[in-house]
Formats: sequence, C-alpha cells, structure tokens
Amino acid sequence: MNHPNGCQLILALDVENREAALMTLKSLGDSIDWVKIGLQLFTACGPDIVREIHELGYRIFLDLKLHDIPNTVAKAVQSISALPVELLTLHASGGAEMIDWANQARKDHAPELNLLAVTVLTSMNDAQLKHLNVLRSVKAQVQHLADLSLQAGAQGLVCSPLELASLRSRFGNDPVLVTPGIRPQGSDNDEQKRIMTPAIAAATGSNFIVVGRPILRADNAAAAARAIRNELA
Ligand code: C5P
Repeated sequence: MNHPNGCQLILALDVENREAALMTLKSLGDSIDWVKIGLQLFTACGPDIVREIHELGYRIFLDLKLHDIPNTVAKAVQSISALPVELLTLHASGGAEMIDWANQARKDHAPELNLLAVTVLTSMNDAQLKHLNVLRSVKAQVQHLADLSLQAGAQGLVCSPLELASLRSRFGNDPVLVTPGIRPQGSDNDEQKRIMTPAIAAATGSNFIVVGRPILRADNAAAAARAIRNELA
C-alpha cells in the first residue's frame, strides 16, 4: 500500500445494528476518516452497510478474518472486490496457499485492496496454543505466521502494539501494521491488557491504530476522536 504519512485513526464501529451505526457516525461527523466494520455489524446488516457507510464519506476496513480453503477465500475476496473496501483481514493460520490465492484474487479484481493477516489472536496465550498442539510461545508463533503471511503476499499485519518494534525491525517499513489495543492516557482499559497510547504506537511504527470503546463510550465522541488524532499528529 502507498503508506499514508504518519499514523491514522480507525474507529472500530462495534455496534449491533444499522441505526446504531448511523447514529454513531452522525455524532462523529468528520472527526474520523476510517471505519472498521467487524463481524457483529456485517452479519447483522450485510454488505449494504459497507456501501452506506462509504457513501457517507468514510474509508472502510472490513474485519472479517477470513479462514477457509484457498478457493473459498479467493472467491470471497472476489465478492468483496465489489465493495468499497481498502483494508481486509484474513487469518494467517489459513496457511500460505490460502493467502496466496487471496492475493491473486486481489490482484485480479481489487488491486487497491490491502490484505492484512491476523497472526495469533490476542485472546490466546501460551497455554491455549499448547492446547491446539502449537508448542512454541505466542511470540514465536506471531513471528512465524508474520513471515509466512508476508512471504505469501499479504500487504500487512494486524498486531499487538507491543509487537510493533520487533515486527518493524524484522520487516522494515514496507508492511502495513495495524494495531488495536490502544488506550489514550487516562481512559478505561476494558479487558485489553497489552495496551499502548496512540502517540507511542505511532512513534513505534503503527500505520493505523484501531480504537473502539474509548471513542464510542465518550460523552463527546467527536471530541474524543479529535483528541486522539491530535495526539497522532
Ligand atoms: O473497544 P476497543 O478499542 O478495545 O476495540 C478494539 C477493536 O479491535 C475491536 O473491534 C476488537 O475486536 C479489535 N481487535 C482487538 N484485538 C485484536 C484484534 C482486533 O481488540 N488483537
């Protein structure tokens, strides 16, 4: 992807239906540019919500974390190419062939799309990996899946902010690194454990920070979003 200058804010629009989505965006106006649509909203509203939010002037990160046989994922990427989406997630654990097929479909049908590989979900720990018979640590598995994904053609990675420094030093400036787990100073951590402030994530090499509840729950959501963007600038 042509890297934007600096680090941009993406709102995680984790709401339950179209009405809530539109009301939230109305209160945010132009205080945000990017919206992440995840499984909750997408499964409730379908692809029309992607078009509708884009028509309001927002850029779209579609967080569907695709994981299936290569042919099915490639066909899903082809379907998504009809939507105004710039960032799309898929699971690195689907394997190199799946990512390669997805990337071929991207090149053929949606050259402007960026595929972001999700390595190890941050809800997993070493014990849970062991349960899956993955005997290395989370850290080693993240690195392994990051290598595999980028070699197979993914344009970037979703990672914990605490992994930014090591991934940047391993892969240089090229991959797009997208980080959730961001909390402005003084805001509630919720269940996020491995967090970083917007300014530190940006300085450590994040291209996009994903923020949900600190904006969605603020008394003045637009002011909260603007404060985060000021911190990034
Ligand atoms: O509300 P909060 O700022 O914690 O939202 C973060 C968003 O990023 C949510 O949509 C969550 O699903 C997503 N996410 C995450 N951790 C990951 C990957 C995605 O929190 N490792």
